[in-house]
Amino acid sequence: MKTIIEPFKIKSVEPIYFTTIEERKQILENAFYNPFLIAAQHVLIDLLTDSGTSAMSSNQWAGIMKGDESYAGSSSFMHFEQTVKQLTGMPFIIPTHQGRASEKILFSCLDCKDKYVVSNTLFDTTRANIEFAGATGVDLLCAEGKQCLIPAPFKGNMDVDALQSFIKEKTSSAIAMVIMTITNNSGGGQPVSMQNIREVSAICKRNGIPFFIDACRFAENSFFIKLREEGYANVSVDEIAREIFTYADGCTMSAKKDAFANIGGFLAMHDPALAEKCRNLLIIAEGFPTYGGLAGRDLEAIAVGLKEVTDESYLRYRVKSIEYLFNKLKDAAIPVMQPSGGHAVYLDAKAFLPHIPVEQYPGQALVCALYLEGGIRSVEIGSLMFGKYDEDGRLIPNTMELVRLAIPRRVYTQSHIDYVAEVIIALFQKRNNIEGLRIVEEAPILRHFTAKLEPVPVINTNIKNNIKTSNLITV
Ligand code: F0G
Repeated sequence: MKTIIEPFKIKSVEPIYFTTIEERKQILENAFYNPFLIAAQHVLIDLLTDSGTSAMSSNQWAGIMKGDESYAGSSSFMHFEQTVKQLTGMPFIIPTHQGRASEKILFSCLDCKDKYVVSNTLFDTTRANIEFAGATGVDLLCAEGKQCLIPAPFKGNMDVDALQSFIKEKTSSAIAMVIMTITNNSGGGQPVSMQNIREVSAICKRNGIPFFIDACRFAENSFFIKLREEGYANVSVDEIAREIFTYADGCTMSAKKDAFANIGGFLAMHDPALAEKCRNLLIIAEGFPTYGGLAGRDLEAIAVGLKEVTDESYLRYRVKSIEYLFNKLKDAAIPVMQPSGGHAVYLDAKAFLPHIPVEQYPGQALVCALYLEGGIRSVEIGSLMFGKYDEDGRLIPNTMELVRLAIPRRVYTQSHIDYVAEVIIALFQKRNNIEGLRIVEEAPILRHFTAKLEPVPVINTNIKNNIKTSNLITV
């Protein structure tokens, strides 16, 4: 059969809300052109994130009822711990309330001040936690990963030569950790190959550098390995996932992604001394080691979700449904990151809006235009999220200006996705009317969550001084 249907049926529904274009214009203005500041009930199709937005299964909801809320030694923790141990093969499992809590604990306990943490591409919270701990985050993505419109099977790979040169130049003692993000969320949800994981792991081992995996989307990455990497077509996703973890000294995990949970995360590792340090900080920051920052019921939902996610009929549907939207857009000549990724479709805002200079945040402009046109909420992954300023206050842009349409797991049907494609195609026809934006207020770290912006009329886009002035307005 050609049609890959949703491998589930719907037991419970929640309403979504319709607004008019005039209402959305006002809502957008009130939210300072930052959809993070829009109330969810004013959003029709919410593609802001695939994190914590999954529909849980009936088995997960049953697990919620079974949750053991004992402060210490709850049976739900045992179930959770055993499941994570089986998956990762790691002996020390530390539950946290979400991925960034794992990062905060890990980088606070790792001796990383004034050192480097190297990645294929660090996610924003990971980078922020690394910098908060006094270290410097370095992205060494492979060359093909930076070519938005050119397809390649494993564009999330780390540049192995660059890693070796970096170690040689800085010496291994200056590198606190190498952490590989699978799939590469900030770089288009593109997967990392097993070969790349193996090679990076071997380099780290030779140089005595700890190698961790940011495992948020480990199952989607494993399925891509099955589909695209030689020698894995007949290996189960379960086995592929377990092989990935054998190469790592530890991992951070946000259970809000590939564990279908609405909250939760964990740290897992082999090193007993580091685990003890992390546990001690956990007790201060999150909670007792058998619940971390979670209720027993959350641990139960994660344990069930982790087993469900490697089901291949689910993963086939997941990857195909992302590809369905990707193909509709590609066929309409809309610039999308190629090939189709694991959890989202990424629009190339630079190519979509060539008349808007990077200093006027084409990605954020497109995010706002999508909301205005069709009530669709997406997120910018470009210079608003990752841009920095030089000493003169000029923007140092991100390499890519992307708009991510993240698809929540098991939530939207094919007609929702058809609607999304229609809106984007309609917008593409009138893209020349879309205006750039300038920042009027921003926080020093993770500014994209709370930044306030205002439109820059199209007529001004070539006046360089205006752009520079706008970038100096910081709070
Ligand atoms: N690492 C990656 C690769 C992520 O995508 C995220 C979160 C985190 C770490 C942090 O996990 O949210 O549980 O604290 N990504 C979400 C997103 C927020 O929208 O992509 P968290």
